Formats: sequence, C-alpha cells, structure tokens
Amino acid sequence: MARKGTSTPLSAADKALVAAAMKARECAHAPWSNFKVGAAARFGKRIVHGCNVEFDVYGLTNCAERTAVFAAYACGAARATLSAIAVVADTPDCVSPCGACRQVMFECGGPDLRVILANLRGEVRVLRMAELLPGGFRLDPQTRAASAGTRASAEWRGAVRTRKARR
Ligand code: THU
Repeated sequence: MARKGTSTPLSAADKALVAAAMKARECAHAPWSNFKVGAAARFGKRIVHGCNVEFDVYGLTNCAERTAVFAAYACGAARATLSAIAVVADTPDCVSPCGACRQVMFECGGPDLRVILANLRGEVRVLRMAELLPGGFRLDPQTRAASAGTRASAEWRGAVRTRKARR
C-alpha cells in the first residue's frame, strides 16, 4: 500500500492538513512504543488534531486517527462533513493506518474520503478511503433505526418496571 518513494503533489489545503498532522504528532504520548503519530482531519472549515495516546494497559491505546475523529465529535466539528484526513509518522514509507482506524474513518467520511498518508521524509500518498478499506461495514439506516427503537422502548419498559418496584 505505502510504496517506497511515492509522492503525490498536494494542493495548498492538503499541505496545510499535513502540516497540522505534523504539529499534532508533537503531542503524541507514546512512552511504550516511542512511535509518534499525528493526524489532522478536516470537517467543513475546521481542522481537528489527533495523536496517539498510550497507557500502561497497552490495549487502551488510542491511535492518532481515532483520537482526531473522537475529538471532532467532542468539540462539535463532526456536525460538518469529514472531507479529508492526513496522517504522519516517522516511517520509511508513508504510514499505514490500522484496521480499526480504517473502519472509523470509513464510517465517518465514507468511501470517497481523501486520506493523505505521509512520513517525515516528505513522502506523501493521497488515497480514497475505499482503496484503504474496500467494503467497510455500514449499518443500513433502516436496521439502525429499528434497533435503536427496540433498545429505547426496552430501556423505557425497564425504567417503568423499576419505578413500580420502588413504590
Ligand atoms: N498508531 C497510530 O496512532 N496510527 C497508526 O496509523 C498506526 C499505529 C499508534 C498506535 C501505537 O501508539 C503506536 O502507533 C504503535 O504501536
């Protein structure tokens, strides 16, 4: 995927996104792997930063890409469309996002999301999300609505039962 020596010419906007990802990388907390990753995601006109964050319980680690997406939800930026995300790491070839991050980016930005992968040597690749994750999982809106409705009414029935039991 991330071939050696590949470099795609970037627009000014994409260059700014890569620069933001480089900056975000400086905030990485990677005491265990010492492998720092930065991400920057464009939601509408806003750019949201992410970095990897590692914990002593290593499984709780969060990758830079997912940190950026979660931060976008937390600050409200994710109300706008995710149009591009840049990811930067100190790798010989352009960094290659993990499977979990591919799924999250796919769900958030769809198959046409621009994914800009770069390293510190200035190598850059621009891909469509569908190239990184062909056939990513989506819950179809009808199934989602139906299961949310069932869940909500089950919770409501549970709450009524609890109130009656307290009386
Ligand atoms: N990591 C990322 O943040 N993004 C990637 O695309 C690949 C891996 C992190 C997870 C972990 O903190 C470290 O890099 C390597 O294990």
